[in-house]
Amino acid sequence: MRRPLVIGNWKLNGSTHMLKEITTSLRNALKMVEGCSVAIAPPVMYLDQARRALTGSEIALGAQNVDIKLSGAFTGDISADMLKDIGAKYIIIGHSDRRIYHKENDEAIAKKFSVVQSVGLIPVLCIGETKRENEDGKTKEVCARQLDAILNTLGTIAIKNSVIAYEPLWAIGTGKSATPLQAQSVHKFIRDYIAQYDANITSKLIIQYGGSVNDKNAAALFAQPDIDGALVGSASLKADLFSAIVTAAAKAKKVI
Ligand code: 13P
Repeated sequence: MRRPLVIGNWKLNGSTHMLKEITTSLRNALKMVEGCSVAIAPPVMYLDQARRALTGSEIALGAQNVDIKLSGAFTGDISADMLKDIGAKYIIIGHSDRRIYHKENDEAIAKKFSVVQSVGLIPVLCIGETKRENEDGKTKEVCARQLDAILNTLGTIAIKNSVIAYEPLWAIGTGKSATPLQAQSVHKFIRDYIAQYDANITSKLIIQYGGSVNDKNAAALFAQPDIDGALVGSASLKADLFSAIVTAAAKAKKVI
């Protein structure tokens, strides 16, 4: 059984006050919850505060973006070395917000994936189709293409120390999650697609689902065999909802 992983992607939300409140509540709520890895990815300027607030807890830190370079004259950017230095573990790569609003293409995403691994951090690769692509029956084709961007440049071995997050764009921030069976079918496709090259890697690979995960739908999603956790947006901004999602993951994947 894979140990599930739930990450809260705060996106462009948060404040010092909110960070203090959420980390305090999460520490309390998750103290007794075992069997699920947890991380929060607040905006980067709050990472140091989060690190201090979470010291001694099992809750890890994530970041929402990284530059392709490690240092140099790249005004406004943040490097993988810096994220490591500040205590981040999981780095979200290729989120649809970045693909859409910052025009990040598969080539840039592969470079980010590589630089994150080069410093020993874990890339969380977001893939997923638009509503139109979904309606046109292109979901698997799109996911395969986004996976190929990594597989063809960095090799299958690169997938080993990574996490994949399947985030259909039509489900993000819409309140309309993929159904458990819809998501399971794509997750199984992703696992089988990579398993063609190396089944050992995929048996251990964490594939998260993201897109309107909340305290109500989490248990049914996690009941699916290939859904190994979640990348949570808006529900990660409320400590009680996020804790309920983590608890649901721990319960669903409990080794009996
Ligand atoms: P929501 O949970 O708000 O739909 O966001 C999902 C997401 O994009 C996480 O990265």
